[in-house]
Amino acid sequence: MSSIKNIVLTGFMMAGKTVIGREIAKLLEFDFADTDEMIEKAEGRKIPQIFEEDGEEAFRSIETKIAKKAAELKNTVISTGGGMVIKSENIDTLRTTGVIVNLKLTPEIIELRLKTSQEGRPVISGMNLSGVIEKFRSREEFYKNCDYVFEIKKDLSPRDHAEEIIKLLKRNGAI
Ligand code: S3P
Repeated sequence: MSSIKNIVLTGFMMAGKTVIGREIAKLLEFDFADTDEMIEKAEGRKIPQIFEEDGEEAFRSIETKIAKKAAELKNTVISTGGGMVIKSENIDTLRTTGVIVNLKLTPEIIELRLKTSQEGRPVISGMNLSGVIEKFRSREEFYKNCDYVFEIKKDLSPRDHAEEIIKLLKRNGAI
């Protein structure tokens, strides 16, 4: 068992970071935290409302503060918002107490999930598929800032993903 105590999930919107993260936490008996939920709790507002009232830049500043708070947690699976990676300082902070696992999506899965996943996500609301794929491509470089990459499979359940991710981390001595 290494000294790393948190497992930090990054990835594009719709990757399933929250559901998979909850499953990993259950299996490992870790706590679970979601930076979007932490933001909403701290602000007393939902994310779309923060974007609407204060704009994306303000949201990103709050996100950076929350990354610092999240890094103070221990034995926790931390699911991050899809844009957490944009500022490398956020990942640097989270890496001080955790291992960073990128859940990698494919355009095919984005297409499958888009219809049911746009609501409540201001960054892609009202966008068509090609716009979302373009956004995804523009983020790919940032998602490379991770310790492990795990590709999301369309036929695997969140539980199956969680088991595979745990195996990957154990195999590499990360947990
Ligand atoms: C965002 C992703 C969202 C949320 C916010 C911005 C992004 O999180 O943090 O709407 O810029 O990719 P999810 O990845 O959980 O949807």
